[in-house]
Amino acid sequence: MASTRGEFSSRFGFIMAASGSAVGLGNIWGFPTQAAGNGGAAFLAVYLVLAFTLAYPALMAELIIGRHAHSNPVQALRAISRTPLLANIGAAGGMAGLVIASLILSFYAIVAGWMVAFCLASLVGLMGAEEASQWLTAFGLGRNLVFTYLFIALTALIVTAGVKQGIERWSERLMPILIITLLVLIAYVLTLEGATEGLRVYLLPDFSRSLSPDLILRALGAAFFSLSLGVGTMLVYGSYVKDDENLPLLGGVVTLIDISIAVLAGFLIMPAMYVALQNGVEIFGEDGTLISEDTLIFTVLPELFATMGTTGVIVSITFFFLMSIAALTSSISMLEVSVAYATESRGVKRRWAAPLIACGIAAASTLIIFDFSNLFSMVITLTTRYGQPLLGFIFCLYAGWIWQRDGVLQELRKGNPDAEHSLFWKIWPWYVRLVCPTIILCIFAQATLA
Ligand code: PHE
Repeated sequence: MASTRGEFSSRFGFIMAASGSAVGLGNIWGFPTQAAGNGGAAFLAVYLVLAFTLAYPALMAELIIGRHAHSNPVQALRAISRTPLLANIGAAGGMAGLVIASLILSFYAIVAGWMVAFCLASLVGLMGAEEASQWLTAFGLGRNLVFTYLFIALTALIVTAGVKQGIERWSERLMPILIITLLVLIAYVLTLEGATEGLRVYLLPDFSRSLSPDLILRALGAAFFSLSLGVGTMLVYGSYVKDDENLPLLGGVVTLIDISIAVLAGFLIMPAMYVALQNGVEIFGEDGTLISEDTLIFTVLPELFATMGTTGVIVSITFFFLMSIAALTSSISMLEVSVAYATESRGVKRRWAAPLIACGIAAASTLIIFDFSNLFSMVITLTTRYGQPLLGFIFCLYAGWIWQRDGVLQELRKGNPDAEHSLFWKIWPWYVRLVCPTIILCIFAQATLA
């Protein structure tokens, strides 16, 4: 391994960084609102099944390839290929990963900027600066640009500091704060009137909705997005793991943390919506379904907080602070994919690579902000619904078919000398070869034909 490469200094550091990447807006915002609108516990069930049976094996494919190659996705897929043609296809797949990760960051930073602005709005509102507070919550062009740039700059600052000093250090600090904040908010919301009705709706399964092909494709996209798969993020983080770590175990812990936080977030958002209803806030759209996505976060919840007086202001600050942290630990992992490539394969110094790539991403965000109604949802659909599962599919093919089985086993043995006899080795190799690619393709085929 090249001595100049970064490395996570501890197991805890890796778990915080990788679960920091996984836990983000997708968990706290995306998952509960999708579950709410798509059959509650039935969506949860489909999601759990997909997360354990598809996302976990795909996560392992990325972690193992990354740790073996100790390099970025482009070089790593090249390294495990046996022929020049496969090496080139692999490198192209790795490149596509960089592009998709950067595109995801370009829209993610916009939304994250909204979160930071809303957090500040409550703070300055508390201090009586009404006008500033209004500017911060109105979706004006200026505010959107300023906060997107601010968020990207923050992300670049952490990534510039390096794997250990930046990513690991900040994930170790921010993730525990995130978990505690989430638990405190849940505990508080559950004491309010109307909360139990929200829980009932969240946990009541309606299978008629959750089994449609389109919905399964959505749940697949949600699971891949939530575990940061298919863009090389986990591959890069895996490449910074020490050789003597037991990867299947680490991957399992990260998956569990990610899923638990998504499910827990449902215990916050759904009760909060019904508390809002109790307080006279409209939570159903014109078609009778629950309001979701941006209207939920930036209209319904603020209206709820407004009905709660000074406590509401504190809750609002805490909530948007939680969202901002969740977004930041994810965004650094998106930027790191391209930075790892630029530093290793192109010889650019980290202190230049991170800010330069960040500027490129900021330019893409600017375009999206200027043509928001067309570009925003298009970029999201393209990257998360299609790009991520399809690239995840390629990573599975490379781990299952292109890389020699012996190589994979040797890699696993480094962290667990008895790997050959483990349950993981009995199931995962054929699983990632056959089951994962087949299911991903079937879900795609069904959704396109439906
Ligand atoms: N997993 C992150 C979330 O849930 C999003 C993400 C996607 C992060 C892809 C990195 C790469 O918000």
